[in-house]
Amino acid sequence: MNFTDLIIKKRNGGELSSEEIDFFIKGVTERSLPDYQISAMLMAICIKSLNYRETADLTMAMAHSGRVLDLSDIDGIKVDKHSTGGVADTTTLILAPLTASLGLKVIKMSGRGLGHTGGTIDKLESIPGFNTALGITRAAEQVNNIGIAVMGQTEDLAPADKYLYALRDVTGTVESIPLIAASIMSKKLAAGSDAIVLDVKYGSGAFMKTLEDAQALARTMVNIGLSAGKKTTAVITPMDRPLGDNIGNSLEVIEAIEILKGKKDGRLKRVALELAAHMLVLGGIANDRDTALYLLDKNIENGKGLEKFEEMINAQGGDPNVCEDYSLFPQPKCSLCIKAEKSGCITEINTTDIGRASVALGAGRLVKDTRLDLSAGIIMHTTLGEHIAVGDIIAEVFAADSEKCTAASDIISKAITISDREAEPLPLFGEV
Ligand code: URA
Repeated sequence: MNFTDLIIKKRNGGELSSEEIDFFIKGVTERSLPDYQISAMLMAICIKSLNYRETADLTMAMAHSGRVLDLSDIDGIKVDKHSTGGVADTTTLILAPLTASLGLKVIKMSGRGLGHTGGTIDKLESIPGFNTALGITRAAEQVNNIGIAVMGQTEDLAPADKYLYALRDVTGTVESIPLIAASIMSKKLAAGSDAIVLDVKYGSGAFMKTLEDAQALARTMVNIGLSAGKKTTAVITPMDRPLGDNIGNSLEVIEAIEILKGKKDGRLKRVALELAAHMLVLGGIANDRDTALYLLDKNIENGKGLEKFEEMINAQGGDPNVCEDYSLFPQPKCSLCIKAEKSGCITEINTTDIGRASVALGAGRLVKDTRLDLSAGIIMHTTLGEHIAVGDIIAEVFAADSEKCTAASDIISKAITISDREAEPLPLFGEV
């Protein structure tokens, strides 16, 4: 097969056969295709899309590009969760320990930052000593011992996705329903859980900007999951503003800890608990969502969720004292407060640009091998719908030098619209 012909076929809007998709993914996995041809195909797919059959074939080819895990050594129902990516979206660090503290078996393979969105693995690596590179045998052992392991994608799990993910991050080819669906579902199918909860984001900070696109993505992923015999639930949630207040790796871990301590409420906590409730229902721990929410709240109040998080940190070589002493996290050298230059209501937040500001501060990657500044990021002091006066602090930025702080402040100031009218925020939950 001549791969250039396949690129041209897709570029012209043609349909790729199952054999052609297998050839593409084999070429990615075996490194027989050069990055420039892979990137060209990704761009052609991004622009011309794939139909459901092509997307399902791509997912299966990617899932089988490496090892498909058999988790039967871990007792109980294994429930996985995945978000399509957002800004200040730290739900995994809240829901994984909380559901594990209620008896669910959580073996979670997470990703690194993608485009303007953060990744759980980068966040966890801000905890001194934390090892995200667990082999599957060690992770399974850990789950049997303490009920939870959160780790990076192993080399042998959906390696084609790992390679494509890193290329998409830096080639403007992230925002594509079939590519996102195949990326997420290939990993979920290869990771071997019995059930999957998907958090599908839409809005200014999500890869899907509209509710209709989020619904289409959710439907595609749920259908792929069900066809593969997995119980699959998708929850649609808005990303019309950063979900939490903190953006950036260590800052997001700190916010998750505050929520697990019961010291912080708000949208991030509500979305995390909603997703956790669906996990508990699919996992047979709770009969219904309301019972699940009650149990989750109880384990925040009695500290069992936090204890489970500390146990996981300890098991993965990290320093659990970070939960009490935030100065143990990497510390930024510079900070800058962004103040409102006019008064009014915050009616719009270009959340993708807030994510880009965080990347500019050093919290995300501009090229494949960027070394992250795990202390860099943003704390938002205001949000959509709030009224502010001249001089009020909108946000605070943290980085290694003042140039980065100034550059990010400019992006953030432009990303926030302050008007005389009232805001119309999206509802916190779309549909299930
Ligand atoms: N998360 C993934 O794992 N892949 C994507 O393409 C987007 C979000």
